[in-house]
Amino acid sequence: MALPLTAERSLAGPPVSYDSGLERIEIELLLEGIYRQYGFDFRSYAYASIRRRLWKRVQSERLSSISDLQALVLHDGAAMERLLLDLSVSVTAMFRDPPFYRAFRDVVLPHLRTYPFVRIWHAGCSSGEEVYSTAIVLEEAGLLDRTRIYATDINEAVLHRARAGIFPLSRMQEYTENYIRAGGTRSFSEYYTAKYDGALFSPSLTRNTVFSPHNLVTDRSFSEFHVVFCRNVLIYFDRELQNRVHALFYESLVTFGILALGSKESLRFSQYEDCYERLDPKEKLFRKVR
Ligand SMILES: C[S@@+](CC[C@H](N)C(=O)[O-])C[C@H]1O[C@@H](n2cnc3c(N)ncnc32)[C@H](O)[C@@H]1O
Repeated sequence: MALPLTAERSLAGPPVSYDSGLERIEIELLLEGIYRQYGFDFRSYAYASIRRRLWKRVQSERLSSISDLQALVLHDGAAMERLLLDLSVSVTAMFRDPPFYRAFRDVVLPHLRTYPFVRIWHAGCSSGEEVYSTAIVLEEAGLLDRTRIYATDINEAVLHRARAGIFPLSRMQEYTENYIRAGGTRSFSEYYTAKYDGALFSPSLTRNTVFSPHNLVTDRSFSEFHVVFCRNVLIYFDRELQNRVHALFYESLVTFGILALGSKESLRFSQYEDCYERLDPKEKLFRKVR
């Protein structure tokens, strides 16, 4: 069903006359098709957010309906790649939520010092800013050499950027301020070299880091970790999927291991709520206690 491109549309949404029941059917069929054709499982992502992103892609591809988008992405892997970029929101920053990193320094580092060897998993690490931030904190605490970091994401394109370790020079002032508010005491510019409009971070920060694809929806746990970071990822999942992912994190943590979530995320309503104790009154840092 091709509607004229001039059909009245709300911004990044369907034409105003679109039937919402039909729209849901089309979206479910598209997500099922993507899962069966490509293995990417977006079926349990939060509906409102997925719907908005699908319509954005419909408009960018100059199509008229979700069914048109289905026909395109099922037959054209490049179109699927473009849609994947829309569906996996990769917004991130170094020392994002500085008080979180301050709490990590104050509350988590003393635990990590008690281990001879530390394994950390950054799940949904995006382009790596979060990983480099943690590496800087560990380096300053003298713990980086005995830590192995596994940094994973569903999206290969962002992992590629993470491996390169080059972030926009234009954001360095913001990141420097974040670093100081997070309790950093060195000169932040020690960690990077300016190259054209990029800041190349010291490769020694990721000397013990492996960047690798991993899908939280379909892939299993792959080790036992002392800390699992999964920040600003669960907000895109529906309640049932959040529960499944919490099960994965619970299995992946050692006893007394630490789970770090984003500011809008929690363990509430998950069946693991009672298995953790809160480590900080404000920041989402939890310790597995049973
Ligand atoms: C908003 S970013 C958060 C990045 C970083 N953790 C932070 O807090 O700044 C969300 C990331 O989750 C990733 N993601 C979404 N669904 C995923 C899945 N099923 N498995 C692994 N990563 C996923 C996206 O590709 C994206 O890079």
